[in-house]
Amino acid sequence: MEIALAEVVPTVDEFCSLRIAVGLSAMDPAAAAEALPRSLHAVTLRSEGTLVGMGRVVGDGLHVQIVDIAVDPAAQGQGLSRVIMENIMAFIATLPESTLVNLFADVDWLYHKFGFAVPDHTTGMTLHR
Ligand SMILES: CC(C)(COP(=O)(O)OP(=O)(O)OC[C@H]1O[C@@H](n2cnc3c(N)ncnc32)[C@H](O)[C@@H]1OP(=O)(O)O)[C@@H](O)C(=O)NCCC(=O)NCCS
Repeated sequence: MEIALAEVVPTVDEFCSLRIAVGLSAMDPAAAAEALPRSLHAVTLRSEGTLVGMGRVVGDGLHVQIVDIAVDPAAQGQGLSRVIMENIMAFIATLPESTLVNLFADVDWLYHKFGFAVPDHTTGMTLHR
């Protein structure tokens, strides 16, 4: 499978569909249309033009969060999440050392190898609306 990497956001339809296909929560398309262009950094992987992987970094440069890491089920198990994360970590490396980089890990094995760890001095929280 030949994979094309691009540092761009996916389309709104692609973004919403891939989140659902991988079991992440559904996102409001109108909200996604406003939010995607505000990404600090984004990466897409395509096979013959079809989106098979994506990831984004959001935030303001002082605080950033890695979000929307997803690989289409048909393309999983081939190392594509590492390709996405290596691209994102290259972007992170361009930020000031004082930048705080956070994420919520549904699968912690994906992030440990890039140096992420569960902090012992604070607790990540989320609000279910
Ligand atoms: C999590 C997800 C992105 C992984 O994508 P993937 O392309 O199938 O993963 P990869 O094939 O790149 O595997 C990544 C690495 O983890 C390893 N790995 C895979 N499954 C593992 C497991 N259950 N436990 C430990 N390591 C595992 C692989 O061997 C590979 O190691 P390597 O990078 O050293 O070669 C994909 O399964 C997905 O989209 N899941 C649903 C959405 C999701 O949970 N996103 C993350 C939200 S935080």
